[in-house]
Amino acid sequence: MKFYPNEALRPYNTLALQACAEAFVTVSNDAELLSALQWARQRHLPVVPLGQGSNVVVAGDLNALVLRQGTRGIQIIDKGASSVALRVAAGENWHEFVQWSLQQGYYGLENLALIPGTVGAAPIQNIGAYGVELQSVLLQVQARKIADDEQVVLHNAACAFGYRDSIFKRDLKDKLVITAVDLQLSLCPAVKIGYPDLAQYFDQHHLDKPTPHAVFDAVVSIRRSKLPEPSADPNAGSFFKNPLVPPEEAKKLVEKYPDLPCYLQLDGQVKLAAAWMIELCGWKGYRHHDVGIHAEHALVLVNYGNSSGAQVLSLASDIAGSVYENFGIRLEIEPRVYGSSA
Ligand code: FAD
Ligand code: EPU
Repeated sequence: MKFYPNEALRPYNTLALQACAEAFVTVSNDAELLSALQWARQRHLPVVPLGQGSNVVVAGDLNALVLRQGTRGIQIIDKGASSVALRVAAGENWHEFVQWSLQQGYYGLENLALIPGTVGAAPIQNIGAYGVELQSVLLQVQARKIADDEQVVLHNAACAFGYRDSIFKRDLKDKLVITAVDLQLSLCPAVKIGYPDLAQYFDQHHLDKPTPHAVFDAVVSIRRSKLPEPSADPNAGSFFKNPLVPPEEAKKLVEKYPDLPCYLQLDGQVKLAAAWMIELCGWKGYRHHDVGIHAEHALVLVNYGNSSGAQVLSLASDIAGSVYENFGIRLEIEPRVYGSSA
């Protein structure tokens, strides 16, 4: 394990933003994690855990030890007649793990295929796509406290999961390094194909009883058709969350904008499609110097070259401003912003 001073972060974030970390380390096991935490404490440096940097905006230098999770391994912790419980190390690649689980005949993650990032970061925003969220399969999160190394286990309910939300973004923000995630997957296929894009895909392919493998293939194909590859067009996925509003507010908006896509949530709130509103404001495909909005997806901000984090945030602020002006809706940024007060 080696500590690198003044490490450039551009290779470590999918928006390819340039900034430096005061110190940088990759840990490959628990003993290295403990040494790294102690090293930071001795220097009074905050610790910023990092996975694959696919949901961060580095808008300035980080006066911190950036600690990249390089731990690997998948362990079966329990297996019954209908389900299997797995412990997956934080540094495992999420999509590779999804592929592996499907190959083993462990089901439940098909809809979450191709989401970039690590397993350890997945609980932070309760990753979700195509009608499934991590919380539906998560048993517990294993972590260490940054302040004193204490090992903690948070069961599903204690994680306070919500849409793109969890306790790790609130009360436990900056307090833990997630070391592993325990998941329960099904041994019996039970596909979820209600999400509009998926339903349409299977309709077009005349498949009314798709297998989990077919759902995986469909999700991969849909995602490839609309979301840009960060290696070609550096981005952080959806830059804004889809706003949740009370039903009365949604009703008023739909009276004015009958085509606005709205999704009723289990708690009665209504989720609005931020991409649709941004597109209606005329931003889709906009570009100014090296920063812009992707031509295929209005929620995706792209760094086309040497844009800075500040330029990305400035564009995001202009977009949010025009959505507020037109719809009275305040958009919230999805990725975590570092090195800036924004
Ligand atoms: P990072 O970006 O490295 O970190 C994100 C945050 O989590 C940071 O605050 C970091 O400190 C914290 N963190 C990371 N690892 C740990 C750890 N071990 N312990 C404690 N804290 C940690 N997200 C979705 O939910 N659904 C999607 O469909 C989706 N699609 C995407 C498509 C693209 C093209 C891109 C670029 C992103 C997409 N995302 C999506 C966002 C992103 O993939 C997820 O948020 C992912 O979980 C981030 O993983 P990461 O390892 O890159 O985390
Ligand atoms: N839409 C537009 N213009 C666009 C793009 C989309 O009008 O440029 C409309 C679509 O026609 C559709 C609606 O917006 O009616 C929703 O679009 P889509 O199904 O593509 O989903 P999204 O809201 O853009 C969300 C997540 C994605 C996730 C997909 C699939 C958020 C913030 N984003 O995107 O997650 O992959 O649903 O479930 O919730 C991410 O978090 O980084 C991410 C990519």
